[in-house]
Amino acid sequence: MASVLFPLLACSLMTIAWAGNFYQDFDITWGEGRAKILDNAQLLTLSLDKSSGSGFQSKNEYLFGKIDMQLKLVPGNSAGTVTAYYLSSQGPSHDEIDFEFLGNLSGDPYTLHTNVFTQGKGNREMQFHLWFDPTKDFHTYSILWNPRHVIFMVDGIPIRDFKNLESRGVAFPKSQPMRIYSSLWNADDWATQGGRIKTDWTNAPFTASYRNFNADACIWSSGTSNCPNSQKSDNAGWWNQELDSASQQRMRWAQQNYMIYNYCTDLNRFPQGLPPECSIA
Ligand SMILES: *[C@@H]1O[C@H](CO)[C@@H](O)[C@H](O)[C@H]1NC(C)=O
Repeated sequence: MASVLFPLLACSLMTIAWAGNFYQDFDITWGEGRAKILDNAQLLTLSLDKSSGSGFQSKNEYLFGKIDMQLKLVPGNSAGTVTAYYLSSQGPSHDEIDFEFLGNLSGDPYTLHTNVFTQGKGNREMQFHLWFDPTKDFHTYSILWNPRHVIFMVDGIPIRDFKNLESRGVAFPKSQPMRIYSSLWNADDWATQGGRIKTDWTNAPFTASYRNFNADACIWSSGTSNCPNSQKSDNAGWWNQELDSASQQRMRWAQQNYMIYNYCTDLNRFPQGLPPECSIA
C-alpha cells in the first residue's frame, strides 16, 4: 500500500512546488479589481478599460537570477495598449531591464521593445517583431541576469545580450536589487505606429494573461543577496551562463530576421558617436 501511495504523493507535492503561486510571489498594486489571480493562483490576468489599466509587482527583490514568465498578450485590435514586463530597482540612479509589448491593429505585428537602464541611464532601445502571434498562445519571456550578462530570451531563443563592459566605462546592473513589475495601460499617444493609431475602446476591456512564473534567482533580504553557492559553482547553471556558439547563432537569426530597431545603428540619434557598448558588441 505505502509503496503505491508514496510516489503519487511525492508527485503531487512536486507539482505544487514547481507551479508556483501568484499569491505567494506577487502583489496586485493597482487597477481596482482589474487584475485577477485565478485557477488556484496559477493564472494572473491584467485588464485595461477606458478608466484604468492594472498592474502587479513581485514581493521579492532579486539581485541576479534567471526569471521566466509566460505571457499571452491582448488579442485582436490591441492598438494603443502596452503590456510592460520588467525588472527595476528604485531611486534616481536606478537599474532597469525592460520588455514592453506594443499592441497593434488586428493582423499587424506586435512590437517587442527592450531597454536596459544602468545608474539611471537608458536610451538603449532594441525592438523586434516576433516569429509567432503572441496573442494566440502563452510564450516564455526570460531574463538571464548574472554578473557578466543580461540576456533577453523568447521561448529560450536569445534576442539580446547586454554584456558587462565596466572595464570600458559602461555601467552594469550588479549592486541594486530589482523587483519584477508588470502593467497593462493605455499609451495611444505613442505606442502604435508612432501614436497615429488610437485605442479603440469599443474592444475594451483588453486582457493580458500570465502563468508559469519561475525565478531561479538570488533573493535580496536585509541588505544581502541570498544566492545558492551551488549555483555559483555550477558551470552549467545560470550564474556562469553565457551564449555558446549555437546560442549566438540563434541570436543572430532573431536579430537578422526580426529586429526592427537597434539604437546601436542609429547614427542620427547619436551625432557625437554611438554609445561605447555599441562598438564592442
Ligand atoms: C504595427 O504594424 C506596422 C505595420 O506592419 C508595423 O510597422 C509596426 O512596427 C507594428 N507595431 C507597432 C507597435 O506599431
